Amino acid sequence: MSNQIPEEVIEEVRKANDIVDVIGEYVQLTKQGRNYFGLCPFHGEKTPSFSVTQEKQIFHCFGCGKGGNVVTFLMEMESFSFYESLEFLAKRTGISLPESSGQKRFSHSEENQSMLDAYEWLTKLYHHLLRFTKDGKAGYSYFKDRHINDETIEAFQLGFAPNAKDFIVEFLEKKGFNKQLLVKAGLVSLQEDNTVIDRFRGRIIFPIRNHLGKTVAFGARSINDQGPKYLNSSESELFHKGKLLYNFDLAKRYIRKENEAILFEGYMDVISAYQAGVKNVVATMGTAITEHQAKLLKRYVNEVVICYDGDAAGQEASYKAANLLRNAGCEVKVSYLKEGDDPDSFIKEHGGEAFRNQVIRASDTYITFYMRYIKKDYNLSLEAEKLNYIQKVLMELSMVESSIEREYYLQELSKEFEMPIEALREELEGISVKSANKQHKSVENSNTKKTGNYEVRRKLLPAFHNAERRVIYHMLLNEWVAERVQSEIGANFRVDDHKIIVTHLYGFYEAGNAPDVSKFIENITDEHLKQLITEIVMLPEMEEVIDKALQDYIHIIKEQTDEQSTISELKERLKVAEQESDPLKAAQIGQQILEIRRKLKKNS
Ligand code: GTP
Ligand code: MN
Repeated sequence: MSNQIPEEVIEEVRKANDIVDVIGEYVQLTKQGRNYFGLCPFHGEKTPSFSVTQEKQIFHCFGCGKGGNVVTFLMEMESFSFYESLEFLAKRTGISLPESSGQKRFSHSEENQSMLDAYEWLTKLYHHLLRFTKDGKAGYSYFKDRHINDETIEAFQLGFAPNAKDFIVEFLEKKGFNKQLLVKAGLVSLQEDNTVIDRFRGRIIFPIRNHLGKTVAFGARSINDQGPKYLNSSESELFHKGKLLYNFDLAKRYIRKENEAILFEGYMDVISAYQAGVKNVVATMGTAITEHQAKLLKRYVNEVVICYDGDAAGQEASYKAANLLRNAGCEVKVSYLKEGDDPDSFIKEHGGEAFRNQVIRASDTYITFYMRYIKKDYNLSLEAEKLNYIQKVLMELSMVESSIEREYYLQELSKEFEMPIEALREELEGISVKSANKQHKSVENSNTKKTGNYEVRRKLLPAFHNAERRVIYHMLLNEWVAERVQSEIGANFRVDDHKIIVTHLYGFYEAGNAPDVSKFIENITDEHLKQLITEIVMLPEMEEVIDKALQDYIHIIKEQTDEQSTISELKERLKVAEQESDPLKAAQIGQQILEIRRKLKKNS
């Protein structure tokens, strides 16, 4: 990879950033043996095949094949350039990169970069106006009335857009931004007479930050009941409402810590809860949660508490969100607020402690929520409807895996409807048998998937192929093994990719490098080779290499190459014999080739 940042600096940055910590900010990793496993962020999956090793500082996904070190992870994950990855990691650990312009290749287009800059300026300006000026006083008082303190205003960079037509346009033009860009960024509206005006004037401003903490849009709330309650920036390349979760950048470390995310509907809910000390909170932006957002959450956490408004619309939305999140593999709980309450109003009235204990901790499991939610569809005073309701609940119960849980809900039902529990249990068993038959096939399929096609693939490889991989594995981790192999067989590996890898590796050691897989792969530009190397390094159950084993591997490879070269030689002679029209000799040679081939096949 060509870059002008000194090698030592790159190494310093890489060493300062443990790959497990960095990836841990994106993927929920659990330790299994020596490696960490999680759900691959690069392809959709339900069972983890994405692995990270701390020792070797690399990652590899056995599902999609992606692999690399901490720098390349960020390049994939954030679409960063090499420089941006390094810059991000340097900042993360307080290392300063040498200032040298001209090489800062940004992954964003120039236009998007300007848009980000414009948003950054405006965030600061709106915030400043709110905090310190007469023009922003209306906004400041509004937040004060809603009990939002200065510290929170600061943390969320809340602001106010003054009620002036061209104030911000002038401000930004002075900074060198052109009007078209501002229109495109959704910051100003184009008038019929071709002038532009601030879209958000007279409104309080909620900067919407992406997961890296950069403002990519604004939510702007009216404070005088005029016009729509909220105006948001229009969607742009930097801002897709369906992909971003409000406050995710601040919340993610708390989500990790609490092992739980709380999902709200509104900006104000997030801000109030955060201020009250409940910080693992995010919100969608006026739309139903999308599959993309559900998957994003699932990467970080198993349990999501849905905490929407206490009205019918809130319950309806909770039901939809719950199913979407469950489909993404999350365990879902649903909070219960009484009609007319939303999280913000509850906190304002009862405080954060009560919110945590009486709302979040008291959330319903999905089934309990479901039992309550679907009641609206039945007139339970009619016997027939009551039975239909029970049937519907039992259907849902039949999908609950834990028998203890099933029993618990059966008892609840039995109590509520004064029915004998045996009858309910029998009914449930009937349903379970039926659906078990139906699902039998799909379960079988998913089981074979679980064992992982990687193992299967590996077993199918010929012996010499596996031997080569194992040798490369040890060569990557021990310089002496590389030296030994180099002197015995050089780059005479059978598999072309392996040949290329060992050639690179000899060069790497000759340049004076110590074994360092993470550093080694940084210089490999071929994506396919990089994936292969990380896959080899993640080979399971590889302990210290012992002399004897190494010798055996080398033997297998050598034998293979020796015999392969004998075959090529024989083929040459066969050609000659045929040219010389010597059928007897040709037949003899043919026979020899077949025998060697048979032998090779038997060994593999
Ligand atoms: P407050 O009423 O100030 O407490 O705001 P809220 O955040 O609680 O808003 P509400 O519960 O009414 O709506 C939830 C979310 O839906 C808001 O945070 C906005 O993202 C979005 N939203 C609400 N009203 C509008 C609107 O008129 N237009 C748009 N585009 N979005 C809205
Ligand atoms: Mn509200």
